[in-house]
Amino acid sequence: MEVTKKSAAELMKLENKYGAHNYHPLPVVLSEGKGVYVWDTDKKRYYDFLSAYSAVNQGHGHPKIVDALIRQSTRLSLTSRAFYNDRLGEYEAYITNYFGYEKVLPMNTGAEAVETALKLCRKWGYERKGIPADQAKIVVCEQNFHGRTTTIVSFSTDPDAYTNYGPRTPGFITIPYNDSTALKKVLEEDPTIAGFLVEPIQGEAGARVPDEGYLSTCATLCKKHNVLFIADEVQTGLARTGKLLACDHENVRPDVLILGKALSGGVYPVSAVLADSIYMDVFQPGQHGSTFGGNPVAAAVAIAALEVIQKEKLAENATEMGAYFRQEMTQLCKESPVASSVRGKGLLNALIINNQDNKNLAWDICIQLAENGLLAKPTHTNIIRFAPPLVITRPQMDECIAIIRKVILD
Ligand SMILES: Cc1ncc(COP(=O)(O)O)c(C=O)c1O
Repeated sequence: MEVTKKSAAELMKLENKYGAHNYHPLPVVLSEGKGVYVWDTDKKRYYDFLSAYSAVNQGHGHPKIVDALIRQSTRLSLTSRAFYNDRLGEYEAYITNYFGYEKVLPMNTGAEAVETALKLCRKWGYERKGIPADQAKIVVCEQNFHGRTTTIVSFSTDPDAYTNYGPRTPGFITIPYNDSTALKKVLEEDPTIAGFLVEPIQGEAGARVPDEGYLSTCATLCKKHNVLFIADEVQTGLARTGKLLACDHENVRPDVLILGKALSGGVYPVSAVLADSIYMDVFQPGQHGSTFGGNPVAAAVAIAALEVIQKEKLAENATEMGAYFRQEMTQLCKESPVASSVRGKGLLNALIINNQDNKNLAWDICIQLAENGLLAKPTHTNIIRFAPPLVITRPQMDECIAIIRKVILD
């Protein structure tokens, strides 16, 4: 079906004229996607090495997920939670069993799921832990990224994220990431702490992988101090890092687990918070909710998306392809003064660019990568994140490595 006859330049002009300028996209206008590929309006093909910030782990337009979307949306799309629907219970049973929790609370976007976890944590802190009214604190990490709501940006350490959105929501304590001693210290000093919110690998900060043992030490400290260990796996979860959850690398079971993005394979906004009843039961009717959260389409799509992850062994492929990618990038860093190091886990990786002489170098490299048929986006000016769909094959990866080598070494 022909959607538009406008040129790429005209389409970009429309976005620039009528859309808020809250993003700085690469100058590429995409119109189709399949598996690891996307095509622009001139039918040029690219490898997608962003995967919509890890939402498209299962690949673009996965037939099983799209089929679930189409079938369910033509049957019943939205009831609100004022009534039961015939898909939600089935989905709730499926996802809780899949991740080994007693309860789920369905939402739509990642930020909403984070907000849900924060509310759960505070409520649990007052009603179960006995923290005096309005004194609950949640510990967060420097360079975090958990979304864009006013409360979430209140505890961001990125000035772009928080400047002029104040007054900032109180009740958060910021400590350095990958520093369990700092966590130990605040937990020992402050009995009003209800939770510790952490990304098992910091995605937006540029695939910052903490030292081995960090997550398990933090989880043990939280248990000791009766503090909820809340893992934001919106970006790291669902096979991206080579395990179903990034916390699985350290056999850590979060008290509260936050999921989003790839929970729908990128076809629909679906997010979720999972926890056992002792925590989740703090929510009573009327105390939290969402018109779209838990709708029948989301339920059907999420089951399909989770089935694909398991059946197609995406975690295993992420481990294998990710190790190969880092090996090849490590070699590239030895050959090129431009690429200084590579880091990451599974298929969530980042190449650190030496941009001392040219602050725009990472952006310029991404433009050249696009010209050569690979889409990636810089984060924090000198870091390029590489996160292809997890269905990528070895020959495809070889082609992508060749593109990256050509651009970096040229
Ligand atoms: C770790 C993490 N949490 C939360 C979010 C927010 O998700 P959303 O953009 O769907 O609100 C993101 C988005 O990149 C994320 O990476």
